[in-house]
Amino acid sequence: MNPMFQPNENSTRLLAGRLLKKLQLSILFSLLILVRGYADEGMWLPMLLGQQVYQDMVKKGLKLKPEQLYSMNQASIKDAIVIFGGGCTGEIVSEQGLIFTNHHCGYGAIAAASSVQNNYLRDGFWAMDKGKEIPSQGLQVRFLRSIDEVSQKILDAAGNLKGMERIRKINEVAAELIKANVGEDEFKAAVIVPIFKGRQYLMYSYDVYKDVRLVGTPPESIGKYGGDTDNWEWPRHTGDFSVFRVYMSATGKAANYAADNVPYKPKYFLPVSIKGFADGDYAMTYGYPGSTNRYETSAGIKLSIDINNPTLVKLRDMRLKFMFEEMRKSPATKLQLAPEYASVANYWKFYDGESKQLVKYDIFGQKKKVEDAFTAWAKGKSEYENLFSDFEKMYADWRPYAMHRQYIVEGITGCRLVRAAARWTELEALLKKGDNPQKLLQTLEGARSAYLANFNQKADKNILASVIMMFLTDIETSQHPQGFYDMLFRKYSSIDNSPFKAFADDVFTNSMMVDDKKWAAFKEKPSLEVLSADPAFVVVNAFIKNWDQNYQSKFVEFSTKNEDLGRSYLKGLFEMDPNRMNSTYPDANFTMRVSYGAVKSYKPKDAVMYDYVCTLSGAMAKYKPGDYEFDMPQKLLDLYKAKDFGQYADPKYKDIVVCFITTNDITGGNSGSPVINGKGELLGLAFDGNYEALSHKLAFDKDLNRTICVDVRYMLWCIEKLGGAKHIIDELKLAK
Ligand code: ARG
Repeated sequence: MNPMFQPNENSTRLLAGRLLKKLQLSILFSLLILVRGYADEGMWLPMLLGQQVYQDMVKKGLKLKPEQLYSMNQASIKDAIVIFGGGCTGEIVSEQGLIFTNHHCGYGAIAAASSVQNNYLRDGFWAMDKGKEIPSQGLQVRFLRSIDEVSQKILDAAGNLKGMERIRKINEVAAELIKANVGEDEFKAAVIVPIFKGRQYLMYSYDVYKDVRLVGTPPESIGKYGGDTDNWEWPRHTGDFSVFRVYMSATGKAANYAADNVPYKPKYFLPVSIKGFADGDYAMTYGYPGSTNRYETSAGIKLSIDINNPTLVKLRDMRLKFMFEEMRKSPATKLQLAPEYASVANYWKFYDGESKQLVKYDIFGQKKKVEDAFTAWAKGKSEYENLFSDFEKMYADWRPYAMHRQYIVEGITGCRLVRAAARWTELEALLKKGDNPQKLLQTLEGARSAYLANFNQKADKNILASVIMMFLTDIETSQHPQGFYDMLFRKYSSIDNSPFKAFADDVFTNSMMVDDKKWAAFKEKPSLEVLSADPAFVVVNAFIKNWDQNYQSKFVEFSTKNEDLGRSYLKGLFEMDPNRMNSTYPDANFTMRVSYGAVKSYKPKDAVMYDYVCTLSGAMAKYKPGDYEFDMPQKLLDLYKAKDFGQYADPKYKDIVVCFITTNDITGGNSGSPVINGKGELLGLAFDGNYEALSHKLAFDKDLNRTICVDVRYMLWCIEKLGGAKHIIDELKLAK
């Protein structure tokens, strides 16, 4: 699941620089929770499985030894699993560095490799030999090198510090440890993450490979079949896969792209099963789940349902509408906006669904029950007895500003021009101090070029006009940027245009962000006057500065307090139930996890039963010629008609199985994760979660949670029959 980008991924930059960025990251990483293991619930740390969990895996059908799953001394499955790009998982499937991942994970690279003439996103692509593979600039894969326990050092330094001070201290020590580990080597990376909300800290070290090439992809009509209509839903007929290859230097080291690099030689790669499986068969996933918050409080659930989610959904709805309007007008715009559109749409639907499921299953009530029991236990224990009244007060203090924050993150900077201009505040500061701005100007130049290349100005202009109009009515007057709306109505009112549109017109006609000549002149002679008068900077000055100067500190207070209280809550829970430790797993934090369970059908609602597989015949039944979500390539129609399934038909269904579902506990970041049978063979790739369990980040549903996977037999059929790339099949180790 996405690059399963988090909705607030873009918020950090403008909200007060590096410190805050670190703070937010560390908050993100420390929302770690423990939960008693239900059947199939759990994102386990593969190096700390423990006997109890391993025995349960064996009971359910695992045939491998622990050291085949994970070992630091010998080749094991872990060596085949990579972080793909910034937020996905991939797996090595041949001894020549071949990688399988999702189509939606390769999406950006596929779009970047495409042009209107060679439209690989639309038509698909297969490199017929290695020389034809397409280098993907900026794309990297990471292999896990080692994991070190660094708890002592971090916790000693943190002592009893709280709030921002604690975070600062931990970041400081972590930065030193990372520096000592990685040094100046650009092909090494390390992160330090809290486990169990800061009971423990682990350092993960990676080797970073930067020569990654596109080997092939099916056309989007297969890779994204069903589009956003089917996204987050089962039944599903999407061939969500793409194929890449990682290269190394001729001397066998991680390297940047070079023509004479050679295919990476892996320690281990996954064999591929084309034997199929039955309902109930063992299945596990290996990968990088991004974030969960399974011990979110009832107050947090309420804030999501009441404010955070609906505001995000409303703003994304608006942005998607304006992007789509332009995308349907021209193939060039469609290519240009496709990656942004897909990622905005993905979490637009997610958060809408999450709210619905939170309400439907009364997750608020469920959490409240647990909290009430905790409070009863905590009576007379001074460390814990006021915990939940403190939480309540903290949420009450923050609530008046929550919508405003969503407007900044999802709305104002949802206009990508404003987002690119947000950093001009740094320039302003330099100019005010009289420092030389040339170096910063260089960086800003890069951001400007990226904006111009990747975003459509017409769509962006409509977004800006809309968001400043919506802000006016949705956000409490006392929080409006001073003077902005007065100025707007005074200067931009006219008979035939709304002042919002007239203002947006001004920005998109006159800002140096869109005017090359003005930008060049400014770079030549940077001046505060010119900067302040720029209409894009007027937006930044009004909305972003207003936020930064008046409200950001409230957010920091809320987040750090939330972290402190959450840490106490967890500590209390461990005290309340010391046995908890045996059956718990830490919240997802984009570190390697394993999740095990089974292929399994389910009952989504009264009188309805969902089968565990979807077939090509089912895909055919949804086919709508010319539709932007349900069209299909002619060749697929022909092959289907001829029933030319090769060795890939399922023996029971006498059809191609396109997708299947498992009970595995995954989330965003797991996209592209291998789904592996009891013998360690690849069955398919995880690519989504089901609608009925979209509250999974906050509460795992043991009856309804499913992972949606593309069947590897469908992938191979697409590669061989549709793509004519049999040489790729020959590279794999097939279990028949
Ligand atoms: N929901 C999938 C995930 O998060 C992504 C699917 C991408 N497709 C789309 N229609 N936006 O992994």
